Amino acid sequence: MKRRDFLKLSAGFGATGLGAAAALPPFSAARAESKTVFKAADVQPAGYPTVAATESLGKKLAAATSGRLSVQVYPSAQLGAEKETIEQTQIGAIQLLRVSAGAPQPSPDRMDPASAADEGAKRLTQAPAVDAKRGRHVLLQYGCVTCHEIPGVTGAAIPVGPPLDRMGSRRFIAGVLENTPDNMVRWLRTPQEFVPDGAMPNLGVAERDARDMAAYLESLR
Ligand code: HEC
Repeated sequence: MKRRDFLKLSAGFGATGLGAAAALPPFSAARAESKTVFKAADVQPAGYPTVAATESLGKKLAAATSGRLSVQVYPSAQLGAEKETIEQTQIGAIQLLRVSAGAPQPSPDRMDPASAADEGAKRLTQAPAVDAKRGRHVLLQYGCVTCHEIPGVTGAAIPVGPPLDRMGSRRFIAGVLENTPDNMVRWLRTPQEFVPDGAMPNLGVAERDARDMAAYLESLR
């Protein structure tokens, strides 16, 4: 199975970008010609439109590849609730995942329009809490593990940068910045500002992602 095929498959199905990117590693070139069964998870029961659609996708895929690629659908949250299945998709244990975007909201027609608007504005402006657990997943998404060994974050490590073990107990970041949460965020977003010719590139890290990654690194002691 080639990387390109898998990306096409994910795009066609509308899997989350998150899942698609993180699910790549298990498919190695050595397995290219063997049969591949994609695991698809859904919390909805058999017969529900999204489950039926995934089954139909699997049949089409099997027909088009003479059975080389197929999809095994696990409905009714057999592989776990949405949170668990998102985590499994991130580590590549599930290849196709259907989840709802966002938590259930109070029905707007039970709120008067003014307070509904206030509520919406409040949600949009509230900064999300710093989340070290999310940070661990984000480290994976930004490919930090391609250059760093990071405890608790799996990935092929061909270390270019220093290992990030015990990062929470170190005094300096890259030997130039005092190790505080704010400085770590600055380092992760613009390392080149501090070590201009360093091998760590500016990776276009979003503020929230940097905060969560910094919290995870801070927890490594
Ligand atoms: C292309 C390779 C590369 C990538 C990708 C990369 N880094 Fe680095 N990183 C480095 C190098 C090289 C250094 C050492 C910089 C120096 O000391 O001048 C470094 C230093 C660091 C340090 C300071 C380590 C110390 O010992 O003080 C942290 C923290 C860090 N990186 C985190 C990250 C995180 C988080 C990501 C993902 C968002 C990331 N890096 C992505 C190469 C990389």
